[in-house]
Amino acid sequence: MNKPIINIIISSFFIFSFLSCDQKKEQKVELTTIAQAEIKLDLLDLQKKNRLGKDTVVTIANDPVYHKEKKYNAVSASVLIKNEIDLTKIDPKNTKIVFECIDGYKPEMPLELFIKSNPYLAFKDVDAPKGAKWEPIIKNGNEMNAEPFYIVYTSVSEKDSRYKWPYNLVKIYLEPLNKSTIELFPLKNKKLETGYTLFKNQCLTCHSINGIGGTMGPELNFPKSVTEYWKENELVDYIVNPASFRNKVKMPTLGITKQQSQEIVDYLKYMSENKKKL
Ligand code: HEC
Repeated sequence: MNKPIINIIISSFFIFSFLSCDQKKEQKVELTTIAQAEIKLDLLDLQKKNRLGKDTVVTIANDPVYHKEKKYNAVSASVLIKNEIDLTKIDPKNTKIVFECIDGYKPEMPLELFIKSNPYLAFKDVDAPKGAKWEPIIKNGNEMNAEPFYIVYTSVSEKDSRYKWPYNLVKIYLEPLNKSTIELFPLKNKKLETGYTLFKNQCLTCHSINGIGGTMGPELNFPKSVTEYWKENELVDYIVNPASFRNKVKMPTLGITKQQSQEIVDYLKYMSENKKKL
């Protein structure tokens, strides 16, 4: 079998052996974090090496990107993951799968949920016009393309927001489920938890804080927090309705209420005092 070796930073184990018992316990959590953070699948590279697995044709009754029935040439994404990653080395219950797309969009979901939902990695659109691999996607009047990979499910409702359908997908990462929680949780002020949770669920796929998160939109905290150069009330209004500020804005209107937006801004103000140099 061609399983890649998961790079555990071995030198850390040496440092580890000099620590007292209590410290050892703490260190172990960190080591698991390091080990898991190393797991990455470069899908184009696997395709080049003919390692994606056995292909098949799948039919998606109501494709959420094309809004109609679609057929794709695809491979089983769960079989691919099981072939490439030794899942006995990680704890799937506490691991998330992060999808990296060409434009910096970075959605994620629990690994266990992903694996058991029979996901497929589509690599070609059966209905594509002659000479093309994919039918174009029309979004906000712009023509786009799903290539090189698109995650689809045959037995999951497209309305169930727990499932992610990333296209333009290039890489898959496995990370500890609580990675962003540890770094971004407002530990010093628990009242901000609502704003944090909203941010984590609605914004983190496109924006980073201290370098953690998607890159489709700008980093919001470092070196300057948006709360330092926007007027607070305008920032709140922008988050509710970006198109009322900028023509052809690339940030969608997310259905956030003014009250929720204020909670997010309060959280962003807190994070501006908790910057981490990148
Ligand atoms: C689908 C991706 C996406 C999501 C989700 C998203 N944004 Fe954005 N956001 C963008 C993009 C792209 C821009 C750049 C906008 C432009 O100028 O076209 C942006 C711009 C911004 C800006 C302005 C930054 C500046 O200084 O110019 C703020 C503030 C912001 N987003 C906050 C948020 C918050 C808070 C959320 C969650 C409630 C959020 N965004 C969700 C993509 C996204």
